[in-house]
Amino acid sequence: MNDTLYVNAALCRNTQRPPIWMMRQAGRYMKEYRAIRERYSFLEMLRLPELAAEITLQPIDAFGMDAAILFSDILVTAEALGASLSFTEGKGPVFSQPIRSGQALALLNGTDIELKLSHIFEEIRLLLPELEKRQVPLIGFAGAPFTVASYLIEGQSSSSLKIVKQLLYSDPAFVHGLLELLANVTVRYLNGQIRAGVHALQIFDTWAGLLSWEDARVFSVNYIADIISRLDNPANIPVTVFCKGSSAFYPMLAGTGAQVIGLEWQADLKRVREEIGPAVALQGNLDPYLLYAPDEVLRDRVNRILSDMAGDSGFIFNLGHGIMPDMSPEKVRLVVETVQSFSVNSSLSVSNRMP
Ligand code: CP3
Repeated sequence: MNDTLYVNAALCRNTQRPPIWMMRQAGRYMKEYRAIRERYSFLEMLRLPELAAEITLQPIDAFGMDAAILFSDILVTAEALGASLSFTEGKGPVFSQPIRSGQALALLNGTDIELKLSHIFEEIRLLLPELEKRQVPLIGFAGAPFTVASYLIEGQSSSSLKIVKQLLYSDPAFVHGLLELLANVTVRYLNGQIRAGVHALQIFDTWAGLLSWEDARVFSVNYIADIISRLDNPANIPVTVFCKGSSAFYPMLAGTGAQVIGLEWQADLKRVREEIGPAVALQGNLDPYLLYAPDEVLRDRVNRILSDMAGDSGFIFNLGHGIMPDMSPEKVRLVVETVQSFSVNSSLSVSNRMP
């Protein structure tokens, strides 16, 4: 698995076409997923290793992506600390008792993390032989402390992070206490995934993009760099940092020790490559909403990215964020096929090329 397109590109040594996978590649847009979801709640699906492993493989078997991502959620670390997580239809994740004070923080319990998350390590062990057969590497993941803390503090998804920001400025010591606890738990969780055998890791920081440069450094990026430096990673499996906000923060993200930066769709991949040099791989960054576009438009935009990054030994094709539940599987198939039929040497005719 060290010689797959995905791992080679993550380590900036790919000489063939770019690999492709998609964030949220397993999920409600697939009928195979919905068939299981009819019988189980989302949390049950996360907790049953056989089921979670089956769901991980669904998009691989349906569309043939070049990497699989563990089916789980970033909020499992918060739940393992004892926070009461539920998923509400139409509202997403909800913590019924938000963590907004030192007293609430003191009730979280960071012991026995490996035991509490052992079903995920079991899921990894079940997946490895299946993925070996398909020659597809497995990406493990965790949420970045700042994003997980945002859910714990707000109690639910928030597009402004108003309460988080109030606390950042009024009680930074409390916020750092929570971030430190989450960083410690995340190191143990990711080290458990490495021991179980994942071939790569990704850290998701969905909400850092709402912060200023300086706050992103202090409350988000520093913790990611700390986590990466504390990984027990003897085989040097590649680590990706994906951040909403990466089009502003990529110079900072390049210094975290991550091998790959996952870029949101606002970024100009070519410019990012020129600015940060050849040592860090780039992943991204098709606007996921292009999956609602007509086939010709979608194909053209995929080809623009492919031709921009043609010959780049460290490029992984992905979306700039996740697939939405109402997207068409046929559009996903079209993107995968377009990337996989790209030949490094072919001269593409891309219509309406912008200067
Ligand atoms: O990418 C993958 O296919 C792997 C699995 C995965 C899920 N969530 C499955 C999921 C991963 C990597 C995540 C990460 C995740 N979870 C993030 C970071 C990435 C991002 O999208 O920004 C975040 C912020 C979460 C928290 C979370 N979990 C949200 C906001 C939601 C959406 C709620 C909704 O109803 O849309 C979830 C639920 C979730 N996570 C689903 C899936 C397949 C849908 C659950 C269902 O079936 O109802």
